[in-house]
Amino acid sequence: MKSSELRTAFLKYFESQGHAIVESSSLVPHDDPTLLFTNAGMNQFKDLFLGREKRDYTRAATAQRCVRAGGKHNDLENVGYTARHHTFFEMLGNFSFGDYFKREAITFAWTFLTEVLQLPKERLCVTIYENDDEAFEIWNKEMGVPAEDIIRIGDNKGAPYASDNFWTMGDTGPCGPCSEIFYDHGEHIWGGRPGTPEEDGDRWIEIWNNVFMQYNRHADGTMEPLPKPSVDTGMGLERIAAVVQGVHSNYEIDLFQHILNAASELLGGVATTESSLRVIADHIRSSAFLIADGVIPSNDGRGYTLRRIIRRACRHGHKLGANDAFFYKLVPALIEAMGDAANIIDANKVMAALKKEEEQFARTLDKGMKILEDDIAALQGKVIPGKTVFTLYDTYGFPVDLTADIARERDLTIDEEGYEKCMEEQRERARAASNFGADYSSKGLQLDGETEFTGYFGNVNDSDAIKGLFVGGEAVDAITAGTKAVIVLEKTPFYAESGGQAGDTGILKTVSGEFRVLDTKKESGNHLHTGEVISGSLKVGEEVSAVVDADKRTDTARNHSATHLAHEALRRVLGEHVQQKGSLVNSDRLRFDFSHGEGMTDAEIKAVEQMVNEQIRANTEVGTHVTDMDTAANMGAMMLFGEKYGDSVRVLSMGTEGFSVELCGGTHVERTGDIGQFVIVSEGGIAAGVRRIEAITGQAAQDWLAENDNRLQEVGDLVKGNRDNVIDKVKGLVARNRELEKEIQQLKQKLASAAGSDMASSAVDVNGVKLLSTKLDGVDPKSIRDLVDQLKQKLGSGVVMLATEVDGKITLAAGVTNDLTGKVKAGDLLKMVAEQVGGKGGGRPDFAQGGGTDAAALPAALASVEVWLAERV
Ligand code: ALA
Repeated sequence: MKSSELRTAFLKYFESQGHAIVESSSLVPHDDPTLLFTNAGMNQFKDLFLGREKRDYTRAATAQRCVRAGGKHNDLENVGYTARHHTFFEMLGNFSFGDYFKREAITFAWTFLTEVLQLPKERLCVTIYENDDEAFEIWNKEMGVPAEDIIRIGDNKGAPYASDNFWTMGDTGPCGPCSEIFYDHGEHIWGGRPGTPEEDGDRWIEIWNNVFMQYNRHADGTMEPLPKPSVDTGMGLERIAAVVQGVHSNYEIDLFQHILNAASELLGGVATTESSLRVIADHIRSSAFLIADGVIPSNDGRGYTLRRIIRRACRHGHKLGANDAFFYKLVPALIEAMGDAANIIDANKVMAALKKEEEQFARTLDKGMKILEDDIAALQGKVIPGKTVFTLYDTYGFPVDLTADIARERDLTIDEEGYEKCMEEQRERARAASNFGADYSSKGLQLDGETEFTGYFGNVNDSDAIKGLFVGGEAVDAITAGTKAVIVLEKTPFYAESGGQAGDTGILKTVSGEFRVLDTKKESGNHLHTGEVISGSLKVGEEVSAVVDADKRTDTARNHSATHLAHEALRRVLGEHVQQKGSLVNSDRLRFDFSHGEGMTDAEIKAVEQMVNEQIRANTEVGTHVTDMDTAANMGAMMLFGEKYGDSVRVLSMGTEGFSVELCGGTHVERTGDIGQFVIVSEGGIAAGVRRIEAITGQAAQDWLAENDNRLQEVGDLVKGNRDNVIDKVKGLVARNRELEKEIQQLKQKLASAAGSDMASSAVDVNGVKLLSTKLDGVDPKSIRDLVDQLKQKLGSGVVMLATEVDGKITLAAGVTNDLTGKVKAGDLLKMVAEQVGGKGGGRPDFAQGGGTDAAALPAALASVEVWLAERV
């Protein structure tokens, strides 16, 4: 029976028993933040079990696609190492929502297995929760399962309800005791029945779990009874297919064989039993279905689990010799194997997404593997250091479990603690880097009420009242010239730093004094104007006129509006995964941190600039709406994950056709054209998967471009060229420089050789042997070897001992012509001299090299050669 026939047989059987056949739900659970991926058939029915939802059926059956990677039920690490664990699988399940309970559930399961599929009863055994006598009776008395084949499993994992026979969906949600059915694959396979020490072996495999849903588990561990007892069951299609098709490993069933054959062909005929190939065959299933269900590889959450799976597959491919992207090419085979269940896969879309991720990882995979191999080769002990694991993660994009996977293959482990430490340090650095404002020292001021902000409508308030004055954190009644203080007003046009936008600066003026505001911050709804009294004095209760520095405010608005446009442009150019991670806007520039795995190319930077500048030139009006959250969401407003918004929110829309719609409380330009111009001046990484751009607008951008132009002009002048030919000119200069360096090298050698000729004539005679022992000045140590050879030639027969000294470092070379090596050896000579100058060296009988450090001893050492030689010839 083919897997697809099995799937149909299951659904048909339960249909005949009054069950509604329900489509598989998406792998991305909707409206359930407690769940990473759909991990069981019951997920889509959670609210039905809890009695929060009603449908027109109380019995249902599904073939649900599931992913168990990351989250509570995580099988990623086991994939490829066992016959039965997968990241992706299909779960066949029947459900009762307050309809039938234990008796019917057990009867359905037993009938389907033993009558429809005709599995031999003697190969089956079952487990029940420790004290579930009711289930025992049904199995034993009604199904006729012998008592010794009904195994009770208790809370053997150390906590109440921590049992293989008490199923929970996650830390919270519907749960209850369960009864599992096991199949015996035969005594030729190692393993034991559940509850025995050998239970983890592959002989007895769990094929079906029947959960008797009775409770809703709360986060604090309490169990609230469900409105009505219900049933949730799950049978892995792949496992039951293995049983029915008479094979032991899931990888031998038709679904996998088709993919394995395709993978083998792509990878030059690798055996389909190869575990790396199995990992690949498993991972293409989860990757393709996750992408089909809308997940994209990224650096956090679901996207990161997907990335881990794809990268793990790539690494196994690499291990099998794949040089190019190969993984995505398996999608057609997957679709063929899965039949109807693959209807939701759009092959082109899925292949394009996989290919992109593969290519991205390919850029660092080779280098990362090399680093890891080197480290493993030099490893003492069995643990890969946390630093290596971190570098691989941070620089080469190796998810930690990928490195652990490689370690495991080599019988090694990774130092997780050390890795965590590096990660923490990294986070610390990232935090420091994104902590844009300095800590504010006035925290803890006694403040009532809130300051009304009037700055959206202008820079000036003529009639504010001073509500509070603080010096060094203490409330005071009055402040005089020279005092540094914090002023709080009833209402103010000064924007207080928030949402990344810097606080305003300006002047507060009363009849008797003037206060320079150097910064404005917010503290429990109050705007704190921080600065110094520049003349006279100010008192609580006095009327004050508040004037914001208009130019700075306008420059800041330019940068803030440009940040919105840049955010959207980044998403359009780099992809939807781009998310704001930090932002700083002041009057000088804007800084924007965002999630993205790799450095932007020049072309990408230009494309973002281009897009923003087009929006600027379109000069559309900037729209502001204060509305409620739902309306904002309907307007498609970008909201920052993890950010808390109040009931009423301010929506900023900017650009043509609603180019950018964001929630924002900042001050902005009136029309995009006011921004003037936008230039990105830097791009770089600040933490794993987080990039930062800095950009400028308006006059600053104009100045920056002019300055660059001036520099170009200056360079042009220096190379006697102009803007048009400066690049060629500089290229010419670089080339010429290289030539000159070469020429100098050659000349140096020639000079040394000429010096050698001179020197040969100054050799002395030692018992009929010519000796030259001397220090050379200004000779490149690298040429000294050649020089020894030349001198030997010139002398015909003789002994040469040369030394040079550069910055206290002595280089020595000794040579003996071949006719004399019987009597004197260059190596011995060199050693003798080197020892006297605090160094060492050695070599062959005819040539030796070495060095030393005691320059003062060099003359005597060279002089000693004559005596030394005289003793030997
Ligand atoms: N929800 C149960 C399981 O996943 C059937 O095992």
